[in-house]
Amino acid sequence: MSDFEFFLLVSLLIFILYVILNLFKRNRPSNYNLPPGNMGWPFIGETIGYLKPYSATTTGAFMEQHVSRFGKIYKSHLFGEPTIVSADPGLNRYILQNEGRLFECSYPKSIGGILGKWSMLVVVGEMHRDMRLISLNFLTNSRLKTQLLKEVEKHTLWVLDSWKENTPFCAQDEAKKFTFNLMAKHIMSLDPGEQETEQLKKEYVTFMKGVVSPPLNFPGTAYWKALKSRSTILNFIEVKMEERQQKLDEGNDVEKVEDDLLGWVLKNSNLSKEQILDLVLSLLFAGHETSSVSIVLAIYFLESCPTAVHQLREEHEEIAKAKMLSGQKDLTWDDYKKMEFTQCVINETLRFGNVVRFLHRKAIKDVRYKGYDIPCGWKVLPVIAAVHLDPTIFDQPHVFDPWRWQGSVPATTSPNNFMPFGGGPRLCTGSELAKVEMAIFIHHLVLKYHWELADSDQPFAYPYLDFPKGLPIRIRRIKTV
Ligand code: HEM
Ligand SMILES: *[C@@H]1O[C@H](CO)[C@@H](O)[C@H](O)[C@H]1NC(C)=O
Ligand SMILES: *[C@@H]1O[C@H](CO)[C@@H](O)[C@H](O)[C@H]1NC(C)=O
Repeated sequence: MSDFEFFLLVSLLIFILYVILNLFKRNRPSNYNLPPGNMGWPFIGETIGYLKPYSATTTGAFMEQHVSRFGKIYKSHLFGEPTIVSADPGLNRYILQNEGRLFECSYPKSIGGILGKWSMLVVVGEMHRDMRLISLNFLTNSRLKTQLLKEVEKHTLWVLDSWKENTPFCAQDEAKKFTFNLMAKHIMSLDPGEQETEQLKKEYVTFMKGVVSPPLNFPGTAYWKALKSRSTILNFIEVKMEERQQKLDEGNDVEKVEDDLLGWVLKNSNLSKEQILDLVLSLLFAGHETSSVSIVLAIYFLESCPTAVHQLREEHEEIAKAKMLSGQKDLTWDDYKKMEFTQCVINETLRFGNVVRFLHRKAIKDVRYKGYDIPCGWKVLPVIAAVHLDPTIFDQPHVFDPWRWQGSVPATTSPNNFMPFGGGPRLCTGSELAKVEMAIFIHHLVLKYHWELADSDQPFAYPYLDFPKGLPIRIRRIKTV
């Protein structure tokens, strides 16, 4: 054997040894100091237990049992992958702040399949940065103060003025109507009540059911129907888009193209058609579903807290009176800023109701936190709801208590402890809009109506939030003198 052959043989052996050692390392996470926990059954792991519906004002039996057994950081096997679940406020923040460095957004494949591979919730890295810039540009404070605030009030009144006394109706449907109309107007200049808007709304309902159902793609399933609705909706947006593009190509005055998100993207970005379609669809999704649920939650919590409604009414009567005296009609940004107790009600609704309960991330490096290892490639679920309902952080977390936000109570001052809109580089870009929507809706609601539940109902986490009966309410008009 020549020296060279010997050298090759040794190299080969070293290489094989290296590969084998690496394989072992992968298969033996025992090298890591993993948090305690239970990996459950092969493949499905503990997913079924994790997704079992529970009352939305609790963290659910699965979380409660696991946290009391293993602590606030535990391992499990969820959505087909080894997972670290965190109910720890410090770790949650650490995960969100280190997006792109140690962790990365990682939603299940089924979500990508339906929202699209270019959806804002799914893309990472530079693509995410570009799309985020577009959505920020469209939700700037100056835009909120001028255009959006007006639109929000118009759409609120459009819905509230259609309510009939003494006939029960579903509050959830009404809130969805409000936020959908608003987003459809904002994104594509669609007007409420018109045939195409109503049709799009119908398709959208089917689409939503698929986002939250198991990804079984064969005829008849909710997922299959949703994929069909997805393409109908995309066709619709595409037609709108081509109309705009034509106007631009004809060299028409750029000013003439509608001043909505779609028009803005066409004028100011390089995105491909496919990317724009997914972006528009995901903004419609992100901006409509969450804020409508928040409004229904406020209606629900307030119904059982008359003292808060009373205090809200005083605050808003004051604002309305001042407007009458000055002869102004529409609400302004200054009026919005006067709604101080309303902001407490909004925070408390988001804390107690938890519209978004947990986020999907994965570790892109080996990470060490508080002595525990999180191996590269593992899924990581920061459960923001668990912190909001933690009795060691919020006093009596199972009580709806807007007054806890008055002054600066210690638990409410730490930014780790209250993250209804996520955090870090993926912090919700619509948080201010969502608060404006809630505040303006509450303003007109408490001034116009008394309301009560027409049937018992309560929010459940599936884990997406829903009222099984749609929250049936009955209203009485307040006589103004
Ligand atoms: C109360 C209502 C809302 C809640 C609770 C909420 C919550 C959230 C949360 C938790 C995230 C982070 C997702 C993640 O990190 O994986 C997020 C992202 C996002 N939200 Fe909201 N949201 C609300 C309303 C809105 C509205 C009205 C819009 C308006 C368009 C909006 C647009 C977005 C967008 C575009 C993202 C993605 C941001 C990014 O990835 O950079 N949201 N939202
Ligand atoms: C569009 O793409 C070109 C080249 O790829 C780049 O130079 C330009 O900055 C991009 N413009 C925008 C608005 O992203
Ligand atoms: C509501 O929560 C936010 C944090 O998301 C905080 O900055 C704000 O001060 C809170 N509002 C009130 C009235 O406590």
